Amino acid sequence: MPGSLVRNYRIEMPENPLAVLKPGLIVPERQALRTPLRLGSFELWPAARRLHQDGRPVAITARAFDVLALLAARHPDLVGKAELMNSVWPGLVVEENNLQVQVSLLRKILGRDAITTVPGFGYSLNLPVTPGAAGTETSPPVAPGMLHGRAADLAELLELMAQHRLVSVLGTSGVGKSLLARHATAGMVSAWTDLAPCADADTMLRTVAGTVGLDADVPCVQALVRHLGRRPCLLVLDNADRVAGALPPLVDALLARSATRVLVTTQVRLHLPQEQVYRLTPLAVPPPGSPLPEALQYGALELLAARARGHDHRFTLAGPVLADAIELCRQLDGLPLALELAAARIPALGVAGLLRRLDERLTVLATVHPGTQARQCSLYDAIAWSYALLEPDEQALWCETAQLPAPFSLEDLMARQARRDIGRTLDLLGTLVERCLLRFDATPAPGYTMSASHRQFALRQPQPRGQALNAPAAHRSPHPAG
Ligand SMILES: Nc1ncnc2c1ncn2[C@@H]1O[C@H](COP(=O)(O)OP(=O)(O)OP(=O)(O)O)[C@@H](O)[C@H]1O
Ligand SMILES: [Mg+2]
Repeated sequence: MPGSLVRNYRIEMPENPLAVLKPGLIVPERQALRTPLRLGSFELWPAARRLHQDGRPVAITARAFDVLALLAARHPDLVGKAELMNSVWPGLVVEENNLQVQVSLLRKILGRDAITTVPGFGYSLNLPVTPGAAGTETSPPVAPGMLHGRAADLAELLELMAQHRLVSVLGTSGVGKSLLARHATAGMVSAWTDLAPCADADTMLRTVAGTVGLDADVPCVQALVRHLGRRPCLLVLDNADRVAGALPPLVDALLARSATRVLVTTQVRLHLPQEQVYRLTPLAVPPPGSPLPEALQYGALELLAARARGHDHRFTLAGPVLADAIELCRQLDGLPLALELAAARIPALGVAGLLRRLDERLTVLATVHPGTQARQCSLYDAIAWSYALLEPDEQALWCETAQLPAPFSLEDLMARQARRDIGRTLDLLGTLVERCLLRFDATPAPGYTMSASHRQFALRQPQPRGQALNAPAAHRSPHPAG
């Protein structure tokens, strides 16, 4: 049996930078944690919470990472099941089979014999563990926050990026596009450009030029192509929503005349023939009545619980809180930004209190946290950002559909106005579905649905000109989106 963690570090394994830490206590600033740990052909990045193989990120769940980090910290010793469960699910009583699930996931990733089971006691890591080289090109530039419930998305996105030179991660405000892109590109040599502040083609070109180190007073597409053409590079165009219309000439030229690969995160696709779209949907929500360990396998609940614990370490999902938390995840459609904003309110309202206040979600779900991007300060701001990206006739139709009972059909919509053009109406509906502002289901009967959060927002908008909408005056906002 190993002694204390500190004794392990100082006497038995001085070269192991993880040995002084429990996984839940990893502090990104520690110099030791910027150094990867080699586990056979794998590299474990403690601060970035990344696992790489041959320089490429490997998809791994947060819990499996925690198990692996503790086994690596204790290598070559055995680690008891109770200690593993306490570290990986702190403050929760979980069934042992949850640990077995994570171990078998790790065996799939690392190889069948990489983890040895000692029946009745625990597990040990059966790979050579050595410190890796720090400061190489593949070190993640910024440690992305922990990614909950996205192991499958990460794996699929990495697969698409390996096959296509232009991939757009498409999804609604706050669904987690940028965080997923950070995880997908961590460890790759990439130029990361945040385009959120850019509203026109000139600023967009200047911003991209600045990111890739092109020194030009008035950068143009040709100069960027020439500059990037010399070396293979992954260009990440993050938050491209507002300049998605201005990007195609640049991206098209880069794909045709340079070795650049491009990853875009956006709510508005580029509509280039080479574009491979990855549609990012919200986090999975557990079915009502799920027992605790099973419920925690769903990303929405995992994120809500992790953030709630971040605000108060005593937060627990015990008793009736679990059912309320599942319902909260469902009501917020598993949207990560909404879940984060909700978690911040739990210390003052409780989960049940929050559920009772969801009719006021557009004002209740808000933060004053300094440094938060303006569009992510509240649920209202996030939806307003998506709304502002719509054309006026798209806005008008969307607000109109908020008044229809859900689900509504194309026929319901057409019946509201005798002279509505069906082709144009389908174009508008297509855009609203693509932007995740409406959901289309083909069964049991074809119909469109709007989420409760979107409905509250749409009903608050001033009546679009020329539409007889009869919206109740009380729903109109004093702060329309712009
Ligand atoms: N899977 C996840 N696990 C943990 N946190 C998440 C996850 N997805 C999103 N978040 C958090 O939710 C918030 C919104 O995520 P992010 O900024 O990536 O969304 P986005 O889709 O890029 O939004 P926008 O359209 O505003 O750019 C961030 O604080 C992010 O850290
Ligand atoms: Mg983003």
